[in-house]
Amino acid sequence: MKLALAADHAGVELKQKIIKRVEAAGHKALDMGTNTTESVDYPAYAVEVAQAVSAGSADRGVLVCGTGLGMCITANKISGIRAVGPCTLEQAEMSRRHNDANILCLGQRSLDEELALAILDVWLETPFEGGRHSRRLGLISDLEKNWPAQR
Ligand code: RB5
Repeated sequence: MKLALAADHAGVELKQKIIKRVEAAGHKALDMGTNTTESVDYPAYAVEVAQAVSAGSADRGVLVCGTGLGMCITANKISGIRAVGPCTLEQAEMSRRHNDANILCLGQRSLDEELALAILDVWLETPFEGGRHSRRLGLISDLEKNWPAQR
């Protein structure tokens, strides 16, 4: 799988560990920064990854910030993105099985590293179930198309 990854200054360390881990598992990692702990604005990084996934130049994305929250809020503004920030292995699994989540957001300051990496592994390995869940995702996509009319 081709994965686009980015972090802000509060997520660099975990992002680097994630890149090593996904490459060791045979995935291709597109590192979209940042790569220092100098303060940056997370939306700029979330948008890069979300656009890569939305355009199909990456299969899925991983975003890391302090909490994972700002990255998740931003990524979900981009059409076709279903970004999630699971805190448990069950949420990670179900976000793939039922929601076909295409971006994983993690909080370096919020999650124990071992749990964050375990969430990553489950999220990468779990397939989407399709079926009735595809219909529900279609309803979400419809909201993106019809948004101005529904306000
Ligand atoms: C940066 O201090 C912090 O706000 C950011 O990493 C993230 O947690 C935002 O949601």
